Amino acid sequence: MNIPVSLPPGVAFLNGHFTAEDMITKITHCGDLAGVFHDQITWQSIPSETTIYQVEMLKSPQGEGELFVGTTHLNPGRVGDEFYMTRGHFHQRREQGEVYFGLRGSGLLLLQNEQGEARLEQVSPGSVHIIPGFTAHRLINTGTEVLSALAVWPSIAGHDYAALAQGFSLRVVLQDGKIQAKEVQNG
Ligand code: F6R
Ligand code: MN
Repeated sequence: MNIPVSLPPGVAFLNGHFTAEDMITKITHCGDLAGVFHDQITWQSIPSETTIYQVEMLKSPQGEGELFVGTTHLNPGRVGDEFYMTRGHFHQRREQGEVYFGLRGSGLLLLQNEQGEARLEQVSPGSVHIIPGFTAHRLINTGTEVLSALAVWPSIAGHDYAALAQGFSLRVVLQDGKIQAKEVQNG
């Protein structure tokens, strides 16, 4: 008996790019990130079409029990003294977690609970980040090359960006030539 073997999608672990027939790509430009960076005057001076990050995702079925797989490619750079970062979010379904895997570049994963307590994990090739439920998350590129991280999350999780309209309670900046995390009072 001949059992057919299908070819699944592939991912290059050196850069997070997928090989698949069907992909979804979403680019986030500087102009999309109004109110995200602390230095609004410098933010306005950057061309709005500048790409800050790009997410490539495999197409997968949606519904209870299904999973999404995607890679975020976050460019290096700063808005003023603040490193490029993703918008960041809680999941709409707060109890749903996620796993991130660092693939290339270096940066930080900012995690924040519903009480506003924040912590940071170092992201580097091979790092594994278990993001628990009820935890907002944001990638920050503190390096000089693209930061790519692979993520797997439940397709029912959804995104809640509005809950963080006030921002996270930590900002990561370059100050005195060093990467520093600063506590923010009002987001
Ligand atoms: C999915 C997830 C990532 C992010 C991506 C972009 O739940 O956490 O795929 O969606 O890193 O970040 P946001 O969505 O905050 O713009
Ligand atoms: Mn997420």
